[in-house]
Amino acid sequence: MAEAVIFLGPPGAGKGTQAKRLAAELGFRQLSTGDILRSHVARGTELGRLAKPLMDAGKLVPDEIILGLIGEELAAMPNPRVIFDGFPRTLAQAEALDKLLVQRGIRLLGVLLVTAPEEELVRRLLGRAQEEGRSDDNEATIRARMVEYRQKTQPLVDYYAKTGSLKEINGLGTVEEVYRAIQEALGVRA
Ligand code: AP5
Repeated sequence: MAEAVIFLGPPGAGKGTQAKRLAAELGFRQLSTGDILRSHVARGTELGRLAKPLMDAGKLVPDEIILGLIGEELAAMPNPRVIFDGFPRTLAQAEALDKLLVQRGIRLLGVLLVTAPEEELVRRLLGRAQEEGRSDDNEATIRARMVEYRQKTQPLVDYYAKTGSLKEINGLGTVEEVYRAIQEALGVRA
């Protein structure tokens, strides 16, 4: 059966970490728009050249580009079983995704809102900068990403709360504790 889970939350909340683990457990594909964009940047594609300055400034990439990427990925999956990581991030993306889910008969299992206090998020991302050297993990860009999150993505919390699919997860515990909370919220067991 075609099914999907959405991970929502600010930068550094642990969406990617948890999405990867859940995808492995459920046998779903993790679809991270950030990873797809970074792969374009690394390959120097036209899309990558367009996205890089926006990503380095902590700004969102235009909706039509993101929706094009997601449309392509889903079109290549006969029976999508997907964990959306970092998508949708704007109301326009959420509305477009709703239509895609209906068109493809994909059941939404839940929208996991993972959050933690901003200072913890900044601490984690600065730590990752030292380990992985992600070009958007510097203090100025991190603060810009937080502003973009508050302005453009936070409205999705209300959007999904109204549909009854929102599940709030405290992202402040250990990776293991957060994962257990996610399993509980979705009703899946290891
Ligand atoms: P994206 O790659 O999605 O970045 P993000 O949302 O800023 O998310 P992060 O990857 O920084 O954080 P995360 O929540 O996944 O945390 P993680 O698990 O990595 O987007 C990058 C850019 O691409 C955007 O700024 C935008 O320009 C563009 N973009 C992407 N999608 C877009 C879209 N849909 N529309 C428009 N533009 C888009 O963890 C972070 C760190 O914390 C790691 O080091 C991890 O090991 C650590 N950690 C995780 N959990 C814990 C824990 N419980 N305790 C301690 N440390 C932890």
